Amino acid sequence: MVGGVVLCGMSSHEMPPKMSCIKIHDARDLDGMRKAGQLAAGVLAFIEEHMVEGVSTGELDSMCSGFITAHGATSATLGYQGFPASTCISVNNVVCHGIPGSYRLKSGDIVNIDVTIKLNGWHGDTSRTFMIGSCTKLAQTLVEVTEKAMYVGISAVRPYGYFGDIGKAIQGFVNRHGFSIVRNYCGHGIGTEMHADPMILHYDSEEPGPQILPGMFFTIEPMINAGSYKTKLMKDGWTAVTSDKSLSAQFEHTIAVTENAVEVLTRSP
Ligand code: MF3
Ligand code: CO
Ligand code: CO
Repeated sequence: MVGGVVLCGMSSHEMPPKMSCIKIHDARDLDGMRKAGQLAAGVLAFIEEHMVEGVSTGELDSMCSGFITAHGATSATLGYQGFPASTCISVNNVVCHGIPGSYRLKSGDIVNIDVTIKLNGWHGDTSRTFMIGSCTKLAQTLVEVTEKAMYVGISAVRPYGYFGDIGKAIQGFVNRHGFSIVRNYCGHGIGTEMHADPMILHYDSEEPGPQILPGMFFTIEPMINAGSYKTKLMKDGWTAVTSDKSLSAQFEHTIAVTENAVEVLTRSP
């Protein structure tokens, strides 16, 4: 493995104390992550024009799958702990990890596509929520607030700051809009693995969390609900829905921190 420095520390309030290891990457690793991030962003840019009434989520998934393989990458979600598709597609009250299938998009839907690809060993993970046809004012506001919440989180990242700053900033912003932040799912370290330490909370846990250091790669991916923050897992074992059936939106970017910058690796091309 390239650039294999690992920092280990105790996470603050786990009983018994659990080790948390956050990998520090080098410039070559960053180069690999930039390429993976750009391809993941490319998948969303490619699928955007296909996000229309009448298309099925399964068709969207196959289109993404074709694009990913045509660019020499693989989907990191296909087969991940048995997940059956190349993307996660989460409609309306689905919070995350929706399984693409026969459902056809209709006007008024809000639809998140979450793409995680692996290119030359490195992962890019990004998602956006699209509005189909004409959506209610509530849906529009939720989607706007959620995208801004992601950027508020990204803006809170500083080299030598703390991961707890991210959730604190997002919570301050989202509270003002009367929406709630999902607590059961979080952002994550990323690199040669899709999911690595640390867990990145999008709400204020009132803990500083680990320090953010140059060479760290991670995601910020707030899921924001119009109603309660509580979620329920469906019988398929993957699909997470809001417990009160309220709408949920999500945006995700993969981030790299260097000595003097915070880089969004999955910015749209
Ligand atoms: N892309 C998701 C994330 O942001 C992970 C999906 S894992 C799957 O972390 F198995 F549900 F696909
Ligand atoms: Co992610
Ligand atoms: Co994702």
